[in-house]
Amino acid sequence: MKASKWLMPRLGVNIDHIATLRQLRGTPYPDLLEAAKIVEKAGAHQITIHLREDRRHIQDADVFALRKQVKVLLNLECSIAPSIIKIAHKVKPDWVCLVPEKRQEVTTEGGLNVKKYYKQLAKIIQDFKKKKIKVSLFVEPDTAVIKLSHALGADAVELHTGRYCNATQKLYGAKSSKIMKDEFKRIMDATKLGQQLGIHVHAGHGFDYKNVRKIVAQDMIEEYNIGHAIVCRAVVVGLEQAVREMVSAIQAP
Ligand code: PXP
Repeated sequence: MKASKWLMPRLGVNIDHIATLRQLRGTPYPDLLEAAKIVEKAGAHQITIHLREDRRHIQDADVFALRKQVKVLLNLECSIAPSIIKIAHKVKPDWVCLVPEKRQEVTTEGGLNVKKYYKQLAKIIQDFKKKKIKVSLFVEPDTAVIKLSHALGADAVELHTGRYCNATQKLYGAKSSKIMKDEFKRIMDATKLGQQLGIHVHAGHGFDYKNVRKIVAQDMIEEYNIGHAIVCRAVVVGLEQAVREMVSAIQAP
């Protein structure tokens, strides 16, 4: 259970951002299945996708096609809306990660309100477990919420690291250093409690190649779900080949 020197943390790659590029123009590219193959080949342990109620990036057909093709673990993030839960049951991913969802948000803001939706979540978790689908709850790094998540019988919590990561990127201006320190402590306290209780601890949101290292160095979190920074990096490291291919298409068709 404890991520340790003997158990390397897993990387789940969130490929929603690739679908966002496709949906911007409604083009057949970038091809998500091709992207998923590359992600697997590169050593990721999991493909993570979020079927949002507004379908702004991942589409229903993507989820079913990925389920068929993906050989590593498939982690489906979904809200607790009955229509989405129904699809998740049909897809049978290895994991579902239950997340809060607001229509106007740019990305998932804040963790799931476990207290408010306790009864609803208990039933949803039980139903998934009957089908041998593991459940994680995307929650704030808050010890009270970790206790509730454990009481609910969730297999894991995924700690929302957005505030910590934003602070490392100085997105809160002068307040950033203090927020970063406070959030780091909250993440560590929540992780320690999760381990004591025996619930798996994952983390995600806002990680980049730099800020993930301080958390990884604590050797406590089992799984990281990371998307935006990887897709942004891919644009830079892949741009040369992309331009070469187009020069070739124009000059040597
Ligand atoms: N985990 C969850 C539950 C998320 O909603 C997201 C964002 O889609 C991520 C991880 C990945 O966040 P990012 O794209 O900032 O790396």
